[in-house]
Amino acid sequence: MSPYGWIDQALETVHRADWYRSVREIAGPSAPWIELEGQRLLNFASNDYLGLAGDPRLAEAAITAIQTWGTGTGGSRLVSGHRPIHQQLERAIATWKQTAAALVFSSGYLANLGTINALVGGRDLILADVYNHASLKQGARLTGAKLLEYRHKNMVDLRAQLARHRGEYRRCLLLTDGVFSMDGDLCPLPSWWALPPNMRRCS
Ligand SMILES: Cc1ncc(COP(=O)(O)O)c(C=O)c1O
Repeated sequence: MSPYGWIDQALETVHRADWYRSVREIAGPSAPWIELEGQRLLNFASNDYLGLAGDPRLAEAAITAIQTWGTGTGGSRLVSGHRPIHQQLERAIATWKQTAAALVFSSGYLANLGTINALVGGRDLILADVYNHASLKQGARLTGAKLLEYRHKNMVDLRAQLARHRGEYRRCLLLTDGVFSMDGDLCPLPSWWALPPNMRRCS
């Protein structure tokens, strides 16, 4: 038997469970109306909320940047440096958001992996909403911290788990999506501020 036979078996299981996923081809650029497999459809599955992916001013700026700087950095940023436009972008974002600094990641997934791992490590606790996006779940796992999930948006469960486990760890990160991507419901963030200060503290 081929050493890769298990792949076919695994694929068969995936197909049998009707979990197989394949990518559909969209004709044309990102826009509210798209053509998908010959049908004209209004796209509710996009994250181009502001329509910026099709904005001609951004397209022009991207073309100019590519002509000036090329299509890639040619190396990892920490090892081989960044270009002035990277710094300009991050400074502009920090000014706009009124923060000390900003860091741009190439995708939302990577932003969650990078930031969570910068905040907690093996001696820490992460309390996470069970419906969090996969990037938050994977980011949390990579830290090596103790990961506990509380019931979806359930402050009673969150408080109980905090009270039970917080004392055993150095830092605690409460991890939640603001808008949950599967159902579009919101985390009740204001009620988090009603947590006693010693439970909110992150250090
Ligand atoms: C809530 C949420 N977080 C993170 C991501 C990952 O973002 P990206 O597709 O930019 O990697 C998504 C993408 O669907 C998302 O819905």
